[in-house]
Amino acid sequence: MISCTVNTTSRRSRIRPEIYGHFSEHLGRCIYNGIFVGKDSPIPNTNGMRNDVVAALRNIRIPVLRWPGGCFADEYHWMDGIGPQESRKRMVNTNWGGVVEDNSFGTHEFMELCRQLGCQPYINGNVGSGTVREMSEWMEYLTFDGVSPMAELRAQNGHPEAWKVKYFGVGNETWGCGGSMRAEYYADVFRRYQTYVRSYGDNQVCRIASGASNDDYHWTQVLMEQAAKYMDGLTMHYYVLPGVWEHKGSATEFTPAEYEITMEKAWFMDELITRHSQIMDRYDPEQRIGLIVDEWGCWFDVEPGTNPGFLYQQNTMRDAMVAALTLNIFNQHSDRVSMANLAQTVNVLQSVILTEGDRMVLTPTYHIFDLYKEHQGNRLLESSAEGGRQITLSASVNEEGTVHLTAANLSMDAPAELDCLLEGLTGRTASARILTGPPHAFNTFEAPETVKLAAFTGFALEGEHLRFTLPPCSAAAFTLPREQ
Ligand code: AHR
Repeated sequence: MISCTVNTTSRRSRIRPEIYGHFSEHLGRCIYNGIFVGKDSPIPNTNGMRNDVVAALRNIRIPVLRWPGGCFADEYHWMDGIGPQESRKRMVNTNWGGVVEDNSFGTHEFMELCRQLGCQPYINGNVGSGTVREMSEWMEYLTFDGVSPMAELRAQNGHPEAWKVKYFGVGNETWGCGGSMRAEYYADVFRRYQTYVRSYGDNQVCRIASGASNDDYHWTQVLMEQAAKYMDGLTMHYYVLPGVWEHKGSATEFTPAEYEITMEKAWFMDELITRHSQIMDRYDPEQRIGLIVDEWGCWFDVEPGTNPGFLYQQNTMRDAMVAALTLNIFNQHSDRVSMANLAQTVNVLQSVILTEGDRMVLTPTYHIFDLYKEHQGNRLLESSAEGGRQITLSASVNEEGTVHLTAANLSMDAPAELDCLLEGLTGRTASARILTGPPHAFNTFEAPETVKLAAFTGFALEGEHLRFTLPPCSAAAFTLPREQ
């Protein structure tokens, strides 16, 4: 029997909904075909956005969407993506497959997508190959509510009202595809560019600095030391690869050893956040600046026969376990982690959705986001579990006093019997849902419901004790309402 404890009367940090965010880049079939098909497509759409994909993302309450990249962001010139479709410039997407980008999905289309999704836009500006003026004018175009050249241009292009943009990224991976800079140099570049990312009227923008890759603590140290007061967020990117970049491993065919390595590498997120946070604490003890994990997820070899530049991979219960673990880690660190964005939303890397023509499939990872969505906006509760790295959990409470507990058994083959002491629980009832299946299970267009959520009744609530057995490779979410 594995013991765990949740103190239901504790109140820790707020789990910002943005922790459950997503990322969509002009990469492979993420934007084009995956999300945007254009108004004239036979695929049912609203203003060019796939209705099936929008509905699925609304169901998991997508809180924020990052766009247009990724590496693409630092080659993207936003003015190429506004105005009449027929006169938009065509460019080569040099990072991703060398395909022609026709700029048919631009600023207006992205803002329309966010409107349909009911989510916050998170726009990533171009530092690597863009100018300060270009970045500054993008913010003016998006958010200036008055008489100005960019506001006029926006009106000419059919949108007189200013939009609201809360999150703006000043470059992406500026140590790599975003300009190959050193931390010391980028700290100054960030200070300069962010000066002109203005908050107009009542649009208060959060300026986000491009942060470290993995355990590059030096990067975080330098940015915090030299530019902390100019930023509201600092990013960190971490991908889980069971192998090495040249041979990352198959998404669907893996050995028990590769499964274990994947889980081990996923647990590393906890150490990364702890150590980056410790550095941030030195310069920002009030925790004003958010650590933003705006790229995370599993990165495997592309599906055989697909364009290697498109990063299309399948998604199994192994991915679901990585997501279940990572989201619990983010919840537990919600004092510092203010946003996270899974890479990427549709058809790229650890997607929540796959599409093929007019068909759509929800991945096991999608179902984890569905299971965990009740945490959004809640207050984190103190919790702990025995069981070493087999068990991961987090708990939160909403404004009505309802407790939400998410727990996963990461073992490939051993069930886990849990006895959870819910200290201070007043409720007498509970309900639960579960996602479980063999580690290699995945959904296809032919069999889209091989992995799906189910009601979970295999638990007993006796006083303050919640006892249940989690099958191998499973995640469950419990809802425990306060007694009225
Ligand atoms: O998500 C794919 C790529 O990974 C992004 O474009 C880049 O930022 C990262 O290296």
